[in-house]
Amino acid sequence: MNDQEAKIEKGIEDEAAPEHHHRQQQQSPMAASAMDGVAAAALRLVLHRVQQAAVRSGRSSDRIRVVAVSKTKSVSLIREVYDSGHRCFGENYVQEIIEKAPQLPDDIEWHFIGNLQSNKVKPLLAGVPNLAVVETVDDEKIANQLNRVVANIGRNPLKVFVQVNTSGEESKSGVDPSGCVELVKHVSLACPNLEFCGLMTIGMPDYTSTPENFKVVVPHISTLENCRSEVCKALGIAEEQCELSMGMSGDFELAVEMGSTNVRIGSTIFGAREYPKKQSN
Ligand SMILES: Cc1ncc(COP(=O)(O)O)c(C=O)c1O
Repeated sequence: MNDQEAKIEKGIEDEAAPEHHHRQQQQSPMAASAMDGVAAAALRLVLHRVQQAAVRSGRSSDRIRVVAVSKTKSVSLIREVYDSGHRCFGENYVQEIIEKAPQLPDDIEWHFIGNLQSNKVKPLLAGVPNLAVVETVDDEKIANQLNRVVANIGRNPLKVFVQVNTSGEESKSGVDPSGCVELVKHVSLACPNLEFCGLMTIGMPDYTSTPENFKVVVPHISTLENCRSEVCKALGIAEEQCELSMGMSGDFELAVEMGSTNVRIGSTIFGAREYPKKQSN
């Protein structure tokens, strides 16, 4: 058993969980630990690791959001993490989020982090009124469709991230870094029902993320940070107005050290994902 597992096993009574973005952790860490299940305890350890990484890079963890990626996980497990005080969850599939969201409290801040097709935008927005963010806008067509549907259903403006393919692998979604400014301009100027929040990058196709995902272009500057500089220059906005969503279970501390403000963490909180075995006939 490694250190981390040992701490989870013990309920990590020794460490105070940091509060994070939007002050989601309301309970006293000690009180919470007595009641925590494994996932809630794992989340608190993640929050602590985020805080430590923030300190290492001279930042405050208050500004770093942890999206608990609950893809394939049951409503009861999500509820356990919710009951420990967490409010921000992420899902990849439209069908899955529209089934789960109505069974869970409506003060959850849902992030959609999967590949989104135009014909799924309406069911997504209609089925999840508390959808807070779509992190995966990667072309004008999907931006236009989100913009249209937000207006049609009359909900409040939708926060979006523009997804950038920082590794250049064809198999990955995301706009090429060279097209990033153009797409952000489109979202900001031509989509009044969308609120541009920042840039997102994803891990490897099998979702085992590695430091190479952040591809450093010049020492200490990742591709995504480079895109942010260009976007901020083009739009005349401050860097604080352009978040960076990068970092998953395998690399979130490095991502935080490299400036991430939004980490998306699944298996470290909820355990490995299990997919139903394919039928052989
Ligand atoms: C876009 C995205 N971000 C983050 C995650 C979470 O990955 P991990 O379980 O490695 O934390 C996933 C998992 O499917 C994902 O699709």
